[in-house]
Formats: sequence, structure tokens, C-alpha cells
Amino acid sequence: QTLQKLKEKLDKGLMPQWAVTDKDIYELERRQIFGKTWQFLGHESELKEPGSYVTRWIASDPVLLVKTNSGEIKAFLNSCTHRGAHLCTADFGKKKTFTCPYHGWSFNLEGELVGVVSGKKVYGEKMIKDEWGLRPIPKVGMYQGLIFASLDHQAMPLEDYLGDMKWYLDILLGRSDGGMEVRGVPQRWTAQANWKMTQENFASDPYHVQTNHRSTVELGISPSDPNFASYGHQIVLGNGHGLSIMTSATGKSPYKYQTLPESMWPMFQRNLSPEQNEIFSNATVFVGGMFPNLAFDSPVHGMEGEMINYLNLRIWRPLGPDKVEVWCWFLIDKAAPEEYKEKAYKSYVGSFGPSGTLEQDDTEVWARIIQVSDALMMEDKELSYNNVNNYLLGEDVFEPVENFPGPGVAYPSTYTDNLARSIQKRWFELISKGLLDEEEDSQ
Ligand code: FES
Ligand code: FE
Repeated sequence: QTLQKLKEKLDKGLMPQWAVTDKDIYELERRQIFGKTWQFLGHESELKEPGSYVTRWIASDPVLLVKTNSGEIKAFLNSCTHRGAHLCTADFGKKKTFTCPYHGWSFNLEGELVGVVSGKKVYGEKMIKDEWGLRPIPKVGMYQGLIFASLDHQAMPLEDYLGDMKWYLDILLGRSDGGMEVRGVPQRWTAQANWKMTQENFASDPYHVQTNHRSTVELGISPSDPNFASYGHQIVLGNGHGLSIMTSATGKSPYKYQTLPESMWPMFQRNLSPEQNEIFSNATVFVGGMFPNLAFDSPVHGMEGEMINYLNLRIWRPLGPDKVEVWCWFLIDKAAPEEYKEKAYKSYVGSFGPSGTLEQDDTEVWARIIQVSDALMMEDKELSYNNVNNYLLGEDVFEPVENFPGPGVAYPSTYTDNLARSIQKRWFELISKGLLDEEEDSQ
């Protein structure tokens, strides 16, 4: 019934607020979105040598990510094939075999079952060990050191999925010799929030910055113009991906190459195209997202009176319709001087780490959306009406610019809802497909 109600709304182009946190919709999202799309698992620098492993999640599916003896990165369902126990529960480490705590079956780095307690004595000749290896995650792919996987055998190739986002990822991840490295381990914490709202917040909503993060301007840890987040472009890339690239009111950044040391600039000029250099050298902040739940932020943030850059990647792992587990990676150029790396890490901790100023501003408002979601009057409250309700920002004001140096549709301000609408559209498509499939099944 709920699904029918949503379908009726969707057919009319309506986005009801109750759908954000509805339990049946969430179940559809798990299957149609998290079960189908490419999901970010980690960065290659987290798996340094053969036997290195990390444990991750794709929504509710536990994943064991390992580097094999041949140096390949493989992903398995992190569940023992005997009675199904969660196999490895350490966050990371280095091993030759993974042994289940229940009855002691063990699996090697290739996921093969290599040890059965009491073996032939109890199983006789009947057991064919080859048939009891760990279940591989259907698809694994890598781009610029980012490791992704998909639970869907039919998922499109990762490079097609990323599409034009690759051009921008190259600026953030491919500018330096040796690429980027993760420092520390991904920090994680839970928040009272819906994953769609957190993704929208990062990927497409610089409009909240001047109000919600105003105190950071007053503290002198964000660029000094209170409207700093409005200057620049919002770029819609299709597939629900996109980003905002902020600059200053003049279009020239006061923080050339985001304050990365001048000694690195010739390397950027060598590794990036002139167009990418033009964008990068004049940017103050890159912030965006890849559908459905990977977001990134590359800001300049004040650290002991100095502006410092870093790259933050994060996923919103849904733990239900009203709770997310935030997984948050700090990255910096491998080639950066050690002193800069140290400052960058502190800058991250003070801004978008779990206790960071900007992070707390956001966490607080996300919870406010959840706090009201059970209201009876939510039942007929709409968030958007055929794109003419409150996802209207910039709608009649900004036309796409003609000669933006990068791919995608670029708008001449970051204060637009064009990207939010494209995320919503992608979500509609996948959810509606779920509804249609269900209808077919019941016929
Ligand atoms: Fe793993 Fe039995 S459940 S060995
Ligand atoms: Fe924010």
C-alpha cells in the first residue's frame, strides 16, 4: 500500500517528505539502489602488501577486502560458508588465512576453503572443499586508487558508471606523482540522519554554508567572505553525480592550488591538462558526490592561522531509514612535504572529522529532519512538486555556461538545485523500477 501510494505520487511528479524515512521505501532502496550500484569500499593505499585486508560494508552486506599474494585486490562476502557466521570482525590487519571463530574453518587470501577442523574424519569423502570457498562480491573495480564493488553481476563497467566525474577525480586524485594516500584509518560514527539527505547536503547544497556554517567564517577558519561558497560553478554530470567548484568573487582564488606548496605546482602542470590546471589553481573548494552515497570535499580550512587543504572522502552507510554510519577517509598527496601532511590532517580533524566544527553543524541539522519525520501532517507534505516547489533554487535565474573548461553541464553559481534535482531523478528512476518489477511479479 505504501508503495502504491508512492507510485501515485511519483507519477504526478511529487516527492512526499514521508518517503525520505519510510521503511518500505528503505527496503526498496536497499535492493534497487545499494544492491545495484557501484559502492566505494576504500583506497588502494589501505592495502599495502599481500595479506593486507580491511573489512567494509555495502549497506547491510559485510565485505572482506584483501590483497592476494599476486597483488590483486579481491572482495568477498565476509561470512563463513559453514553456518554463515560473520567471519572477520577486525577493521584491518594482515593475514595468510581467515579462521572462523565458530567451528574453525579457514579460508586463504583467494577465498578458498583450506582448513576444516577434523576434516575427513568427520566429513569423509563427501565434502568437496572447492565448493565451499568464500562468495566473491560480483564486481570489483578501481579508478585512480579508489576501490569500488557492486553486488550486481549486471552492473555497468565502473568507468562508464563514473562517466564525466573521472575528469574531476583526476584533478583531485591524479595530480601528484604517486597519487594520494589515506592517513590513519577511516573514522566512523553514527548519526541520526537519512542517507539521501546527507548525500544531498554534500553533493549539491552549498546554499546551506552561509547560514549553517556561518560561525566558521566568524572564527576565521573558512574563507573570509561569508558568501564564499556561492562563487563558482555547480556541475551536473549525469547518473546522479556532480560537484560544486568554488572560487572567489573575482574568479581567482586567493589560495592558489588550494594552498598546496609551490614546489608541487610544476608537478600538477605536468600531470593535468591546461583546463584542469585552470580550474584547480583557481578553486577554493571542491565538494560533490557520486550517486548514491559517496561524497567528497576538498576545502581550504584554517589551521593555526594558516589555510590548509586536504581531501576527505566519505560514505553514508544506511543503518535504516533514519540512521547512517558515516565512514570518513582523510587523503593527502603522497608527494606532499611531511610537514604539510601533518597540518592537513589537523585541519581535517578540526573541520570534517567527527568532532570538527563543520561536521557538527551538519549533524545537528540532519537530525532535525529526522526528529519531525513521524509527524502526522507529514503524510501530505511534499518536498517538490514537478520541480516547482522547493527544489527551485536558481531555476529561472541561472542558465548553463557555454565555455566551461570541464565536462558536464555547468551553472554559473553553486547556489542552484540543478544537481539536487538530478540526484532525485536518478533515485526516482531506480525506485520506480523497483515498483514496476514488483507489479510485473504480481501479475
Ligand atoms: Fe564458520 Fe562454522 S560457522 S566454521
Ligand atoms: Fe555542511
